[in-house]
Amino acid sequence: MTVTRAFDRLAPTYDVLAGGEAFLHQRRQTHAAFTRWLRPGCRVLEIGCGTGVDTEFLATAGLRVIACDPSEEMLIRTQRRLARTAAGDRATTLSCGLEDLPRFLDGLDGGEGFDAVVSNFGALNCVRSLAPLGAIARRHLRPGGAIVLGLMGRACLWESCYFAARGRPSLMARRRQPDAVVPVAGVDVPTFYHRTREVREVLGAGFALDQVLGVGVVVPPPYLEARWQQVPAPIRRFTAGLDCVVSSWPIVNQLGDHILTRWVKRREVQTRGFKAEGSSTGFEHEGSTAGGSRA
Ligand SMILES: C[S@@+](CC[C@H](N)C(=O)[O-])C[C@H]1O[C@@H](n2cnc3c(N)ncnc32)[C@H](O)[C@@H]1O
Repeated sequence: MTVTRAFDRLAPTYDVLAGGEAFLHQRRQTHAAFTRWLRPGCRVLEIGCGTGVDTEFLATAGLRVIACDPSEEMLIRTQRRLARTAAGDRATTLSCGLEDLPRFLDGLDGGEGFDAVVSNFGALNCVRSLAPLGAIARRHLRPGGAIVLGLMGRACLWESCYFAARGRPSLMARRRQPDAVVPVAGVDVPTFYHRTREVREVLGAGFALDQVLGVGVVVPPPYLEARWQQVPAPIRRFTAGLDCVVSSWPIVNQLGDHILTRWVKRREVQTRGFKAEGSSTGFEHEGSTAGGSRA
């Protein structure tokens, strides 16, 4: 399969790419959100874990993680990372993508359910249909549980400005084209820039969007790292600080390279007999930032 082949090829160098300053800034923003939004002890399903950077973070923060990815080369690196992490035994891995996950979970889950589903840095931009996410959320997520999605945004401010400045207007809106393709390790990967409305539709009325963060709004996307390094360090530091301030502002939060959203399963929804009592994840509520979200 094209996508899996691409990520197998990317896997050996992924951590180098993810170690650049612009990417690390985005990673720190999402980890700060995970810390606010997810509590130690939670049982988390992570979809598209890549080399396991978030898996390690969540396990080290005291969460129990089941992490999956369809790329064997990515998953091998997650397993190696967990083997050298003190909290690595809090996480297990599954070799599959979103499409096969409902079938795997039906055999695996034994009715225990999850407190959260996490998918970060565009893993679900690789899938055309988010329907399996809806099925998992309805069937395996406990009432009060959360879905935390880090998807590539459809209106990246930096990217639009960059292509405008380079006189390439056709690329300014490339994320809104229906047949978008992104080269990954030399392989053209079909990429789906999902609307918030699509996520809402697959999750259904039992879920409420309560947090929206723009990740990488005024700091450029990782592929512009080399140009970013030409900017003086004090300006880069100031910009990174500014990014953290504006990331939750309505409308501005739609302009990130990635958009991190949290969807909470309403407590009145009963799933396979899970009780709302005792399944609380106790999420900290920061006041809704979802008001500025674009459907
Ligand atoms: C950009 S990487 C992000 C990895 C990781 N979440 C992170 O934060 O670094 C995208 C990941 O999505 C995975 N992926 C591709 N297709 C997928 C699918 N259908 N279901 C789940 N994950 C998928 C890839 O194998 C890859 O590891």
